[in-house]
Amino acid sequence: MKTLTSTLPKIASLSTQQNLQLLDIKREINIVKKDCVKFLKDIKDNTVDLIVTDPAYSGMNEKLKLGHGRIVGDYGKEGNSKWFEEFRDDPENFRIFLAECKRVLKDGGHIFIMFDNFSLLTLGHLMREFFDVKNIIVWDKVNIGMGHYFRRRHEMIIFASKGKRKLNNRRTPDVWRFKRIHNAAYPTQKPVELFEAMINGSASQDFLVVDPFIGSGSSAIAAIKKGCKFLGCDLSDEAVSITKKRVDHYLHTGLDLLQPESSALPADILNKFW
Ligand SMILES: C[S@@+](CC[C@H](N)C(=O)[O-])C[C@H]1O[C@@H](n2cnc3c(N)ncnc32)[C@H](O)[C@@H]1O
Repeated sequence: MKTLTSTLPKIASLSTQQNLQLLDIKREINIVKKDCVKFLKDIKDNTVDLIVTDPAYSGMNEKLKLGHGRIVGDYGKEGNSKWFEEFRDDPENFRIFLAECKRVLKDGGHIFIMFDNFSLLTLGHLMREFFDVKNIIVWDKVNIGMGHYFRRRHEMIIFASKGKRKLNNRRTPDVWRFKRIHNAAYPTQKPVELFEAMINGSASQDFLVVDPFIGSGSSAIAAIKKGCKFLGCDLSDEAVSITKKRVDHYLHTGLDLLQPESSALPADILNKFW
């Protein structure tokens, strides 16, 4: 098995050979504007090595009537430009989505899906109908967030497989500590390290990684850092445009426009698992 590559160097310091490799990488990163289910339907059966994704859930905002403020604007208000269109997360729709994920994954493929508190209970259990659920990983955001009762500091990631395949190592714990992104350019931007940790656990170089809800493209940057091919989509024009610019800039400079600094804590960088 080939080892995973580390962060790409700045283009100024690259040789001609390395420049050609960068161009090759660029050809293998594809971002499209599409609905997640339509996007998955365009992918052939058993062709994807790994799915890592962070869907837009309507449940938390709709049913708990939350969502006013700097990040989401006035959630319920029509034409609210601060918020993106949501994936309808009723069980029927979620089953259609999961069935497509299963169809495109290769046998032995892994899938990581993020869930908030609400969707974990309403939809998370449906994962078992399609996949072998292996873990619920906790993302500890280090700093306290919003919340009407106990203030939220974590989200969950369900890790599951289609058939049998081991993780790349057995040293990684199921609690991952990465600081949330403050003043993010995109409302729900996640730390790149979060996706790196998923990819690190499951992928080898050249694996095809798919994310049907790319948002600001953190998963795309993580896939590039790990030397993987990437295919992603989003329903929003803004998300697609931000991601394309971010990826392009990263491929040319080795710098991440939207997350210039690591979200890991100094103490964790010593024992890096992502
Ligand atoms: C939680 S955000 C993803 C954030 C991303 N992980 C990041 O780090 O920036 C969910 C994304 O799903 C997109 N979305 C909502 N409904 C969708 C659908 N039906 N198909 C594809 N994308 C959709 C939204 O536009 C939003 O960008």
